[in-house]
Amino acid sequence: MEGANAVGVAGVPASALNRIDLSSPDIRHSVALLKQACLDSGFFYVINHGIGQDLMEEVFVQSRRFFGLPLSEKMKLLRNKNYRGYTPLFDEVLDAGNQIRGDYKEGFYLGVEVPEDDPDAQRPHFGPNLWPSEDILPRWRQTMEKFHSQALNVAKALARIIALALDLEADYFDRPEILGKPIPVLRLLHYEGLISDPSKGIYGAGAHSDFGFITLLATDDVPGLQICKNKDAKPQTWEYVQPLKGAFIVNLGDMLERWSNCIFRSTLHRVIGNGQERYSIALFLEPNHDCLVECLPTCMSEENPPKFPPILCHTYLAQRYGDTHADLDVYRREGA
Ligand code: OGA
Ligand code: NI
Repeated sequence: MEGANAVGVAGVPASALNRIDLSSPDIRHSVALLKQACLDSGFFYVINHGIGQDLMEEVFVQSRRFFGLPLSEKMKLLRNKNYRGYTPLFDEVLDAGNQIRGDYKEGFYLGVEVPEDDPDAQRPHFGPNLWPSEDILPRWRQTMEKFHSQALNVAKALARIIALALDLEADYFDRPEILGKPIPVLRLLHYEGLISDPSKGIYGAGAHSDFGFITLLATDDVPGLQICKNKDAKPQTWEYVQPLKGAFIVNLGDMLERWSNCIFRSTLHRVIGNGQERYSIALFLEPNHDCLVECLPTCMSEENPPKFPPILCHTYLAQRYGDTHADLDVYRREGA
């Protein structure tokens, strides 16, 4: 790791995470840094990823404008059954056992634009996006589409380094049946300026590990994200992941943990509000709907057989999304 833990916030230490420089020509060094990070914490920063600072900032400006709209306007874009659109406060409950109501955050999901008449349009996380009208938020859609596609490219570049770190061919995950028609979900998040109180079950986002392959997270400069490197330790200890300007914070999801037979671990994390409003933007990269996630050839041996049965990506995601999101009927009843 690079250096000792820095000073955190309110007695909680800050995690010293490796920085993967995507502009570095020294791929072997990048693979080594990434591998070490994946074995140690499942979290790292990605720097020099090629997305311009202007776009990184513009996407936050546009996100703030959306969340600043009146609730009635946002509710017109309430998320649909395909997980597209606005998720109000408490829509998500990431740690039901420890939360009283749900996450103190609102969000907005968008993804690949699949036209209504496409056979794939009915699949979860596909279909037409829900967009705010141009009259209300000009340039919003263009900004989001541009960021979504550039962030997807960064995620795919990382997938190649991850493949090398798992002793696979660099383009292993690029195969048509894996990332040929991936599910890249962009999620804008807004945390109210509320002070979290774990002893009362109040969290910005409850403790969880992400569901999929990898997550890229851009944040503003308000601290809040915490990780727990050892989910089985009692009591659990938490460290802050400090915001790093212009960088992505990257973490591995549960699908990669399964795929890699737990060689690479998905890491528990949560968001603790400190009273300041906070914005973040996540890109969740998941493989094709029909990708069979089964133990990778380099991650098993006679002494270390596969720990999980194979599972289809869409089956796994449907279960995880279903378990953590409100039933849409709740909103129908409220609106009645
Ligand atoms: C998530 C998440 C962290 C953040 O959306 O899965 O962990 O800082 N977000 O918003
Ligand atoms: Ni997460």
